[in-house]
Amino acid sequence: MRERLENLQQEALKELEGSSTKESVLQVKAKYLGRKGEIASLLKELGSLPPEERKTAGEAINLAKNRLEEDIEKLLKGFEDKEKAEKLSKEKVDITLPGRTISLGRAHPVSQVMAQIEEIFSGLGFDIAEGPEVELDYYNFEALNLPKNHPARDMQDTFYINDEVLLRTHTSPVQIRVMENRKPPLRVIAPGTVYRRDSDITHTPMFHQVEGFMVDKGVTFSNLKGILTLFLHRLFGENTAIRFRPSFFPFTEPSAEIDIRCVICKGSGCRVCKGSGWLEILGAGMIHPEVLKAVKYDPEEYTGFAFGLGIERIAMLKFGIDDLRLFFENDLRFLRQF
Ligand code: DAH
Repeated sequence: MRERLENLQQEALKELEGSSTKESVLQVKAKYLGRKGEIASLLKELGSLPPEERKTAGEAINLAKNRLEEDIEKLLKGFEDKEKAEKLSKEKVDITLPGRTISLGRAHPVSQVMAQIEEIFSGLGFDIAEGPEVELDYYNFEALNLPKNHPARDMQDTFYINDEVLLRTHTSPVQIRVMENRKPPLRVIAPGTVYRRDSDITHTPMFHQVEGFMVDKGVTFSNLKGILTLFLHRLFGENTAIRFRPSFFPFTEPSAEIDIRCVICKGSGCRVCKGSGWLEILGAGMIHPEVLKAVKYDPEEYTGFAFGLGIERIAMLKFGIDDLRLFFENDLRFLRQF
């Protein structure tokens, strides 16, 4: 019996050594350790041994069985580990693969210029105010010293909704609304959308303006000049030449238009500045006493200056854009450039 057990052990070990797959190990396992396997049949034969030998023989068989079990489990575990490692390496995620980029939007050039202007004036202590785009004739014209049938109303081609209601043609009505509700000292800018019945390469029916004004005791034309010069230098660069020209607006007296040296040709004359070397940028002036009276300010006590500018025009000059309509066509090939 002992001899048979030893032979059996050796054979089993040899067979295991020759097993190169999990399947063949499992076959060896069944052959020796299975219910009808070699070890089981040896155990069955124990009964035929003389009783005094049964115990030692039984122990020897069990010891051999345990060893064999251990060896087989070790081998099987080796195969399983290998399988797992192979599977993992196949399933490995390649983290060097570039991800899908999320394309970010950008601020529209008009919004960018608007934001820059707001930043400059905020730094000078100006508040930002807004007013309605559907406006009363009173705020858009009458309170700004443009009575009904005044010829200067022709300067702005108006979309009327009815006799009293219109789409605002400029941001100047916000001056009136703010002054009606607040007392000086006031330093305010009012950016927003305005509408005019006009459409060609240099005009669109909707565009943007920024209005600004300052009212207090003793505000003079030199305050206007100082603040607007500083503003234009911040916006276009410190070395930009500036000139003030006398002009006319019904809501200011005296009135001025302010030009900068042409940013395209630097003054030598080109298509953009129509050969003059200068670009008109701002309308401005000292707020007319009639306007102050309309908001019940005493023109003897308070004075102020006001100004207005078109945003699209500034954006065209800053970014070198030659067709106003590009701003409103929403063509991404255009918008992505800013
Ligand atoms: N409202 C004028 C326009 O749309 C611009 C303007 C000129 C505004 C002079 C002002 C100003 O406040 O003082 O053409």
